[in-house]
Amino acid sequence: MIGRESIRIDEVSMTYGSSKILDSVSLSIGKGSVVTMVGPNGCGKTTLLKIINNLLKPDKGRVLVEGMEVNSMPSHRLARIMGYVPQGHRISFPFKVRDVVITGRMPYISAFSSPKREDLERTEQALSLVGISGLADQPYTQISGGERQLVMIARAMVQQPSVLLLDEPTSYLDFKNQISTLKMIKEISRNRGVTVVMTLHDPNHALMFSDEIVLLRKLNGSREENVIAFGSPNETMTPQNIQAAYGMEVEILDVRGRKLLLPV
Ligand SMILES: Nc1ncnc2c1ncn2[C@@H]1O[C@H](COP(=O)(O)OP(=O)(O)OP(=O)(O)O)[C@@H](O)[C@H]1O
Ligand SMILES: [Mg+2]
Repeated sequence: MIGRESIRIDEVSMTYGSSKILDSVSLSIGKGSVVTMVGPNGCGKTTLLKIINNLLKPDKGRVLVEGMEVNSMPSHRLARIMGYVPQGHRISFPFKVRDVVITGRMPYISAFSSPKREDLERTEQALSLVGISGLADQPYTQISGGERQLVMIARAMVQQPSVLLLDEPTSYLDFKNQISTLKMIKEISRNRGVTVVMTLHDPNHALMFSDEIVLLRKLNGSREENVIAFGSPNETMTPQNIQAAYGMEVEILDVRGRKLLLPV
């Protein structure tokens, strides 16, 4: 059930050095919805996800999650609300997959104590949820890039977040695993009322799996705004909007009642 507001992004601006990346971006994201950010490389998707997660402080504006400003929340409290799977993550120490996943329980484990039965059970459940129970005893450094991606999703899920932020969750995944992971993300959202904000590069995946899409453009010094469109997938992914975002032409095909984007 998509309900009241989960995340409010209020006039957020961000500049790196002299490059303005985000200019007064405002978005309201409903509880339990799956929202996908789509846009060209460097348009600021990761930056915005990090600002939502309070890993970056915007120059201007604020982010509220469940009514609370993220930069005023203690980090362990924020970690109970938000799970974050970053783009391209690296752990170089050969921890077992199970031990990587259990670190997601840190916000629930008090200092100097060890994981309790509940933490261990939730870890096994999360491994099973993403379909990697068979990898539990493997060293993290000896699994594939796609499998690592799934480990990080499991790690985020043991946090029992009400908001899940996923930066390119399908990169490194094979054709089938891309679809099964996106299905799983949607099911998590539907079954547990988790709000999902993710970034995807494939516009057809965004069309298939999102309740709403935010289509962004890269600022180029003109007076244009970052957000080209925000709304239902069909309203957002029009040839005109894709042209505005990427400067490329696409055609929309209707296939068995589904829209598909085809470059021309
Ligand atoms: N720490 C930083 N210092 C300076 N510039 C940065 C920093 N992080 C990002 N940038 C720049 O800000 C812009 C936006 O970066 P960001 O990572 O948010 O883009 P993105 O939309 O996630 O791109 P991609 O699709 O390639 O992941 C890019 O031009 C990038 O080079
Ligand atoms: Mg990025």
